[in-house]
Amino acid sequence: EWADRGAAKIIKEVVDPTTGELTKHVVKMGIKDFKFGEQLGDGSYSSVVLATARDSGKKYAVKVLSKEYLIRQKKVKYVTVEKLALQKLNGTKGIIRLFFTFQDEASLYFLLEYAPHSDFLALIKKYGSLNEQCARYYASQIIDAVDSLHTIGIIHRDIKPENILLDKDMKVKLTDFGTAKILPEEPSNDADGKPYFDLNARSKSFVGTAEYVSPELLNDSYTDSRCDIWAFGCILFQMVAGKPPFKASNEYLTFQKVMKVQYAFTAGFPQIIKDLVKKLLVKEPNDRLTIEQIKAHIFFQSVNFDNGSVWDDDPPEIQ
Ligand code: ADE
Repeated sequence: EWADRGAAKIIKEVVDPTTGELTKHVVKMGIKDFKFGEQLGDGSYSSVVLATARDSGKKYAVKVLSKEYLIRQKKVKYVTVEKLALQKLNGTKGIIRLFFTFQDEASLYFLLEYAPHSDFLALIKKYGSLNEQCARYYASQIIDAVDSLHTIGIIHRDIKPENILLDKDMKVKLTDFGTAKILPEEPSNDADGKPYFDLNARSKSFVGTAEYVSPELLNDSYTDSRCDIWAFGCILFQMVAGKPPFKASNEYLTFQKVMKVQYAFTAGFPQIIKDLVKKLLVKEPNDRLTIEQIKAHIFFQSVNFDNGSVWDDDPPEIQ
């Protein structure tokens, strides 16, 4: 099934030293072209390792997936989805890039863009919580990235701080599309001008992480793109409070809290962010703010979301 479809091919240009003639060679990249380094992360069915290209010295994050494990655990679909989603999103601001894929007998390899500043969970842990200006900087990028992927017809379904990487410029990069939902090709607006967002793109599978899972998934076992908005609300809360809104000693108790939307703001939580969080952590998906409404919220008044300009803002000093 995986054969060599979409395997990493690069075009090498070689100039003949005597004739000066330029020839182009299609060269297949493989494991031998990289020097493997430290482990960057560990997923449930994959690990991510730093790799350096032997020719260019360029650094990549390589996601390594064991074929035997994928088959045994019936996770092959996840890998297919992840690859397809990343290919559809290639070049989208705020999404990690997939450069090449290749394989050997034992493993599949995803050559991903390397994000050297770790992830958002590490950032929140390091600083405890973020001030209003920092929260605005990161939240505006996260919501813009989510907007882009929804527009392209992809629901992430597992947005959480660990899946929000930080690149060399401290810009947000969403990763881990293994549990994403790729919607069938669609017009972005239907005849009534109803946003694509409102279509009932439902999926019955349980995906996500307890702390960020939406109540509709727990109650009615369906998700559509609004589950990503719920997760965004949880993360916005966490940026300021230093901990997720729904957290208990075990998953079951966490689910209870999510279903009741039972959470409390920490002391000193800025009023303006409180107002936004309250409009995101709403049980009924129809009553949750849309991305358009989020971007228009007073908290983001100073942010210019037009033509990707959020990605030009310089990162603020933390604290
Ligand atoms: N951990 C998981 N994926 C990563 C990436 N692309 N860059 C850096 N660290 C990672």
